[in-house]
Amino acid sequence: MFRVKPVAAGRLPELLRSMPKAELHMHIEGSLEPELIFALARRNDLQVPYPDVESLRRAYVFGNLQEFLDIYHAGTKVLRNEQDFYDMAWAYLRRAAADNVLHAELFFDTQTHTGHGVSADVVINGLHRACADAQTQLGISAALILCFLRHLSEAEAFEALEQAIPYRDKLVGIGLASSELGHPPEKFARVFAKARSLAFRLVAHAGEEGPPAYIWSALEALKVERIDHGVMAMQDPALIARLLQDGVPLTVCPLSNLKLRVFPSLAEHNLGCMLEAGLVATVNSDDPAYFGGYVNENFTQTFAALGLTAADAYQLAYNSFEASFIDASVKRGFQDRLAEVFETFE
Ligand code: HPA
Ligand code: ZN
Repeated sequence: MFRVKPVAAGRLPELLRSMPKAELHMHIEGSLEPELIFALARRNDLQVPYPDVESLRRAYVFGNLQEFLDIYHAGTKVLRNEQDFYDMAWAYLRRAAADNVLHAELFFDTQTHTGHGVSADVVINGLHRACADAQTQLGISAALILCFLRHLSEAEAFEALEQAIPYRDKLVGIGLASSELGHPPEKFARVFAKARSLAFRLVAHAGEEGPPAYIWSALEALKVERIDHGVMAMQDPALIARLLQDGVPLTVCPLSNLKLRVFPSLAEHNLGCMLEAGLVATVNSDDPAYFGGYVNENFTQTFAALGLTAADAYQLAYNSFEASFIDASVKRGFQDRLAEVFETFE
């Protein structure tokens, strides 16, 4: 393993910002900044139920996941046309490139939008065009993961999967998002099996607010390759052993956990314990427009709060590439670039 030189605490934020990384857990609809919500509302002749950008941003105080999801869902109503989806994704991808993200995997869902009368092709084509432009214009790769909404039925998830099949080559994977408590993964075992038969890569949110049993279910019933969040795994030693044995990555989102009150403070977050245990943890922004920052903000605030080191930074960035769904040769190339940045950082 590559040996990481010690870095003075004062220099760590700069290293965190400049190191190459992948972002694997972000919902593109959660990158919709209040300014863009108002701009899209104007363009589409829609009303926002807040007088201005500042008052909308002030409403972003949440007691739990559901309180967030209600506001997040209201924000998605301004998305009507392919160009709206493009503009939203393009704004995020530019922001990600500025954070030295070399590869991003974007969650989105079609069920929210079809529920508003917007067809799946409008959603997927707009997002995909932004991902293609990111490669040619920003030099970063981006892939799309379609999430089923777990508060809806199995039949509705099957319908969403059917609608996505014509766009199979524009999607890398299938995920599971929305209200976790009361919606354990096993309800979606059959539709995940169908997705697996179509060679989709599989992930699921589990153990964000829900118990370790939901993580077990995501692994056993859905057969996912990565767990999104997974912070509750640390309550279950047998589960930790299982995640270690199979090297199952966890896409952790510290500022999300703070804003949704999963942990009372960042200083009490268990990311450091995960790294100590040897888990394949990564750092991600989840819904950056709502949770107070993009991926670099998640890194810098969490490192300051937990006293993490340059070796932890290297491990997290290395893990982000390792856990990604990019080709093995590209992955190695990104990891080599990472090592080079750490070697030459003064
Ligand atoms: N959890 C579950 N569903 C979501 C989230 C989240 O943090 N963000 C957007 N959809
Ligand atoms: Zn999420």
